[in-house]
Amino acid sequence: MINPSILSADFARLAEEARAVEGADWLHVDVMDNHFVPNLTLGVPVVESLSKATDTPLDLHLMIEDPDRWAPQYIEAGAGSVTFHVEAAAAPVRLAREIRAKGARASMALKPATPIEPYEDLLPELDMLLIMTVEPGFGGQAFLDIMLPKIRRTRELISRHGLQLALQVDGGVSAATIERCAEAGADVFVAGSAVYGADDPAKAVRDLREKAEA
Ligand code: DX5
Ligand code: ZN
Repeated sequence: MINPSILSADFARLAEEARAVEGADWLHVDVMDNHFVPNLTLGVPVVESLSKATDTPLDLHLMIEDPDRWAPQYIEAGAGSVTFHVEAAAAPVRLAREIRAKGARASMALKPATPIEPYEDLLPELDMLLIMTVEPGFGGQAFLDIMLPKIRRTRELISRHGLQLALQVDGGVSAATIERCAEAGADVFVAGSAVYGADDPAKAVRDLREKAEA
């Protein structure tokens, strides 16, 4: 699955930019609060408008403090999937259950320095796990290849538990790095600058998908 990140789109033309990647599986929406990460993007009202403007389901990536409080509001605003950071969540199990109970897919993100092993027992509560391949906060950063062993170990854990969890990578994913991520076991790929920085974003999505499947 290829999920273009609208962080690299033109925020004054969000509806058009969302439609430019129709055919993508999900639209990745980065919510930043200037506290959990040193950047500020958008909030509930923008997500609400965006969900009405596109048929592509929204994959929300909450880079915010107190996701326990905010996640339900993003689901009401139209999010089909909600990713919270384990470093920010007060009660990750309760939060994952609440997200699912409200009808969205529950997903948990790990910053580059956060290991997966302490959270092994949480995996059955999740529909997706996000392994950050850059420090969260900004688009256009270089892919951290030292994350590849973590992707591989996480995929092994998921298989060992017999789970059907999606494994998402986010940060520096491009035609140059996507094959290594896929080979390590990722199956959902977020791409911001590699899609919206291209002359033809829809073609960039198709090209990435082809590379991931190769
Ligand atoms: C970064 C965000 C990413 C960002 C990725 O903190 O979570 O989703 O948009 O951008 P690229 O693909 O340009 O690294
Ligand atoms: Zn993201």
